[in-house]
Amino acid sequence: MADNVRIYEVGPRDGLQNEKAPISTDDKLEFIGLLADAGLREIEATSFVSPTAIPQLADADELMRRLERRAGVRHPVLVPNERGLERAEAAGVEAVAVFTAASEQFTRANINMTITESIAAFRPVIERAHERGWWSRGYVSTAFGCPYQGEVGEAAVVGVARQLFELGVDEVSIGDTIGVAGPADVRRVVTALLHAGIDAERLAMHFHDTRGTALANVTAALDLGIRCFDSSTGGTGGCPYAPGAAGNLATEDLVYLLDREGMTHGVDLDGVLAAARHISEVLGRALSTKVGQAGGWRPAGA
Ligand code: COA
Ligand code: ZN
Repeated sequence: MADNVRIYEVGPRDGLQNEKAPISTDDKLEFIGLLADAGLREIEATSFVSPTAIPQLADADELMRRLERRAGVRHPVLVPNERGLERAEAAGVEAVAVFTAASEQFTRANINMTITESIAAFRPVIERAHERGWWSRGYVSTAFGCPYQGEVGEAAVVGVARQLFELGVDEVSIGDTIGVAGPADVRRVVTALLHAGIDAERLAMHFHDTRGTALANVTAALDLGIRCFDSSTGGTGGCPYAPGAAGNLATEDLVYLLDREGMTHGVDLDGVLAAARHISEVLGRALSTKVGQAGGWRPAGA
């Protein structure tokens, strides 16, 4: 089995979207630049959503227009509907992500649609992506538990993932939006997806470390052949429509684990820590991630 892992950075989007104090576009652009310096090649940059829903990302148009494009770096943006599609296209994006969930109540709270309506709203977005040659991804949030509905069965996750693939997305990211899963849940859901005929190479896992299980969940998914993980440098994150959601799995913690597992990923831990320090200064609070506090490890004599 391949030992190369893709690290899909969500810090500038998922990480910052729930921050109350305004962050300047300059600071966000510097953060994205530092992430690229660290070797990250997929950096989710922002969302073209309603500025009332997510005020922190209301500068998406300006940010994407000013963002320096680097060869080999992809900057996906979230697009929920045709209005978002127009804005994203005008800003010159090259990768888009659509987002729905495995539970009806979260989908209603988050994007004011039923799951079926959301799939219909995404159809023109993914059609445009195909016309323009953009890369595309679909999110299935609340795949392990919903803040409103409680337990979520794996059949619901498989059903929504299938609909997203039928639309034609390149990849589907399965999200533990509120951070309730443990490794047994990961095995249950990923096994159901694989048994449904979905290729592990077209799946990503999106863990939040709300209850400290994110890295254990990564190892469970690695064992099942998953090779793409979403993470946020500095461990920031949360969704205003997911009460109780805390930080994403931190990129620095993921990089350290993958290094110890002997997996290649192309990301430099010191570079990630530099980007984490930047965002920690911008947010005005200390890093709470494990590796952010302890640093990496260079054994004496090595
Ligand atoms: N970008 C900017 N404005 C948008 C927009 C977009 N993509 N989509 C809708 N709007 C505006 C409309 O123009 C309208 O503005 P008006 O009141 O000035 O006329 C207003 O938002 C309401 O539009 P409507 O189509 O009725 O949307 P809604 O109120 O049902 O909200 C979403 C639907 C999807 C736009 C909204 O729920 C949303 O943006 N959610 C994103 C949540 C999110 O990002 N969560 C975190 C990621 S998991
Ligand atoms: Zn998330």
